[in-house]
Amino acid sequence: MDHRSRQRIAQLYDSRLQRGYVLGKLAGDPVYAATAALVAGTALPLLDIGCGIGLLGLYLHAQGHARPYLGVDHDARKIVAGQLAVQRAGLAASISLRHADVSELPPMHGHVALLDVLHYLPAERQPALLREAARHLAPEGCLIIRNVLREPNWRFQATRVEEFFLRSSGWIPGGAQHYPTAGELRAPLEDAGLEVRIEPLRGRTPFNSYLVVARPHR
Ligand SMILES: C[S@@+](CC[C@H](N)C(=O)[O-])C[C@H]1O[C@@H](n2cnc3c(N)ncnc32)[C@H](O)[C@@H]1O
Repeated sequence: MDHRSRQRIAQLYDSRLQRGYVLGKLAGDPVYAATAALVAGTALPLLDIGCGIGLLGLYLHAQGHARPYLGVDHDARKIVAGQLAVQRAGLAASISLRHADVSELPPMHGHVALLDVLHYLPAERQPALLREAARHLAPEGCLIIRNVLREPNWRFQATRVEEFFLRSSGWIPGGAQHYPTAGELRAPLEDAGLEVRIEPLRGRTPFNSYLVVARPHR
């Protein structure tokens, strides 16, 4: 995404902190482009679980991948900021943001995104969320997960330091609960009948992040 498009999206947000966050994320995080590549070529709606301020919806629209987008997040401040941004962009007809917990997903089928969210749930809630995300897939849909995975390496330690600062700053109240291993992620998805692919996706960050793509067997 070019500089001007990044600026245009950032200007939709009120607070300076959010504008800076948006510019940084759009410039340095490859997850939005990776998601766009995976949903390209289908008109399926997208359910974005833990959507934060709705950045993925605005990114997809700006990059020509418009589709019905529904984001849910339990942080009311982020949802309000996102709704305002969507209204300013004139996209309220196709982008909806809803204040809800991940356990209250709306009944829709399409693609599903779960970007940097899973570790905010305790270990015992993660398999249920993965199964529920799988249930929201259309036959041609894909479940796109990005998460830090628990591994014995320095990248994983760097992630834990970052989480400490995120929690202290109040950006994510509660903070990380449990980073899953690749096996913990894979098992419930395969049990749900999905084919699972896991690959590193770090961009320019030092964090131990992976992209997990799960699809119904064809
Ligand atoms: C690191 S942010 C990622 C935001 C967005 N997915 C993105 O990549 O731009 C994690 C988000 O998960 C949300 N979240 C964490 N636990 C949640 C829960 N139980 N229900 C709904 N949202 C949750 C947080 O409020 C936060 O907005």
